[in-house]
Amino acid sequence: MLVRAFYISRSAGPQTSVVTGSILKTAMGFNRVNQITGVLCQGDGFFLQMLEGERSIINQLYGRIVRDSRHKDVELVKYEEITQRKYSQWSMALIDLSDTDPMVVMQHPEFDPYSASSETLEQQIDEWISSGKPIQ
Ligand SMILES: Cc1cc2nc3c(=O)[nH]c(=O)nc-3n(C[C@H](O)[C@H](O)[C@H](O)COP(=O)(O)O)c2cc1C
Repeated sequence: MLVRAFYISRSAGPQTSVVTGSILKTAMGFNRVNQITGVLCQGDGFFLQMLEGERSIINQLYGRIVRDSRHKDVELVKYEEITQRKYSQWSMALIDLSDTDPMVVMQHPEFDPYSASSETLEQQIDEWISSGKPIQ
C-alpha cells in the first residue's frame, strides 16, 4: 500500500547547510534503501516535506521525524493513499529557499504554510520544482 504524507514544521534553529547536510545524509541513505521518494523544502524558518512510500515504512519514519529536535510544530497537512508516485525520481530532493529568494520574498511576502491549504502548498511546491529549484 503506497501512501504520500505531507507535513510542515518550523526549524528549531538556523537552517544552516550543516543541519541540512546531516538531515539529507540520513534521508538519502534510509530513503534509497526503503524506496522512499519525496521532496524537502526549506527556508524562511520552515520545512515542507513530501514523503512517498510503503505505508508502514512512511508511518514509522514520520514518527521519528516528529520526534526530531531539529524542528518543532510538526503538522501533518495531508496523508493519502496513492497509486502513483509524484516524486519518483528523487530519494529526497532538496528545495532550498533562502530568506532572500525572490520566489518567497516578492511573490509571497507573508508566506505562512500554517495558514495555507494543502492544495495551495502543493501547488507552491510544484512551482518551486518546475522553476528549476530542486537539488539532487
Ligand atoms: C525536516 C527533516 C526531514 C527529515 N527527512 C528524513 C527523511 O526523508 N528520511 C530519513 O530517513 N530521515 C529524515 N529525517 C531524519 C529523521 O528525523 C531521523 O533523524 C532519522 O530517521 C533517524 O532516526 P533516529 O534519530 O530516531 O535514529 C528528517 C529530519 C528532519 C528534521
